[in-house]
Amino acid sequence: MSAAFNRRRLLAGGALTVGGAVAGAGVTAGLRAESEPEALAAVVTSAAFGAQTVPFHGAHQAGIDTPAQAHAAFLAFDLVAGVDRAALGRMMRLLSDDAARLTQGQPALADTEPELAVLPARLTVTFGFGPRLFAAAGREAVRPASVAPLPAFAIDRLQEKWTGGDLLIQVCADDPMTVTHVQRMLVKDTLAFARPKWTQRGFRNSRGAQDDGVTQRNVMGQLDGTRNPALGSAIFDAAVWVDSGPSWLHGGSTVVVRRVRAEMEKWDAVDAAGKEFAVGRKLDTGAPLTGTREDDLPDYKATNQLGLTVISESSHIARAHVDDDRQRIFRRPYNYDEGPGPDGRADTGLIFAAYQRDVGTQFVPIQRNLAELDLMNDWITPIGSAVFAVPPGCQPGGWIGQTLLG
Ligand code: HEM
Repeated sequence: MSAAFNRRRLLAGGALTVGGAVAGAGVTAGLRAESEPEALAAVVTSAAFGAQTVPFHGAHQAGIDTPAQAHAAFLAFDLVAGVDRAALGRMMRLLSDDAARLTQGQPALADTEPELAVLPARLTVTFGFGPRLFAAAGREAVRPASVAPLPAFAIDRLQEKWTGGDLLIQVCADDPMTVTHVQRMLVKDTLAFARPKWTQRGFRNSRGAQDDGVTQRNVMGQLDGTRNPALGSAIFDAAVWVDSGPSWLHGGSTVVVRRVRAEMEKWDAVDAAGKEFAVGRKLDTGAPLTGTREDDLPDYKATNQLGLTVISESSHIARAHVDDDRQRIFRRPYNYDEGPGPDGRADTGLIFAAYQRDVGTQFVPIQRNLAELDLMNDWITPIGSAVFAVPPGCQPGGWIGQTLLG
């Protein structure tokens, strides 16, 4: 289809909607301009965000307190035998240099498709170190104790192909082409040191489909993220950034990446009231069952005529809630969908990524509460699990991991 035809079709489409409810501001402005190139510019500039960048350098790594981009790849690698502290330093210098360039819309050194680097679309690249990397680096003494495989939970059905890993690279951007290009560049530069163990591609709503900052729905149809600590708030900072323990990690964080399968066929069999009861919130507004608005605080003590709590003590939010802000986690999940299996069953769910200062005192008690009793357990199954220390950020000239490996 030619560009000229596209422009004509765009304008024709706009003309059809003039006066109608769906006429977008850009299209209306374009019609008034009565010139095709100008009209197109009005439409394109109002929506384009491919050139937007997020700083790579800073006290913290980007991709944690960055408003979640629409697309993500979580890549886990296992180190090859013989990789030591010096080799890890070389690897992280290389990968940091790649990330510093690519996030700013510049090709990586020796980029084989430099044309694909020009639209970073808020690209962030975030690195994490798995439990075994510390022994390889001869730095086992400064591994945080809970950067280790999680304790086993009764609900787990973990598959080796989604579990563990010595190095994590989290790539997030608003454009899946960017994610694919960056994934390829980083994998190429990692291969001398490590082998891919698993890759999980995830998505959220497309940027622009709704206003930035609104709570998104997950594949189960729920508003997911309502009670997350607000980005940049004192609660977020206290829950997420490491400020004690081994000094190399100060300003860093830890991340748990769980692949949680959604049992959609069983979920389909429940009516809306049952779904709402299981979570403790309404499906349409996301309001707690004791309120009317999404941001109403749940009243866990309110009872109905039968004397039972309105929000079940076994509901997901009642079991996951913690009163102490220092024990909260920051959820940064992505949906996954691998398409139906031969039997037509959905292979979908959440790549549940949660950031916190300390996995042992924050994530683990919450997951234990949920594993013991959570009405949602009938419909969600953890099938993968990995834990990583997330080093602090670096300044220009520095590299991620320098405080541990330098
Ligand atoms: C497929 C898996 C999961 C789904 C679909 C899911 C869905 C939800 C939904 C709909 C909410 C209510 C809205 C909100 O505040 O975001 C929620 C809240 C929450 N979830 Fe999950 N969740 C899942 C797994 C987990 C896991 C594995 C954990 C941690 C171990 C977790 C921890 C939390 C926490 C801490 C809250 C906020 C509780 C509060 O109100 O204070 N969730 N989740």
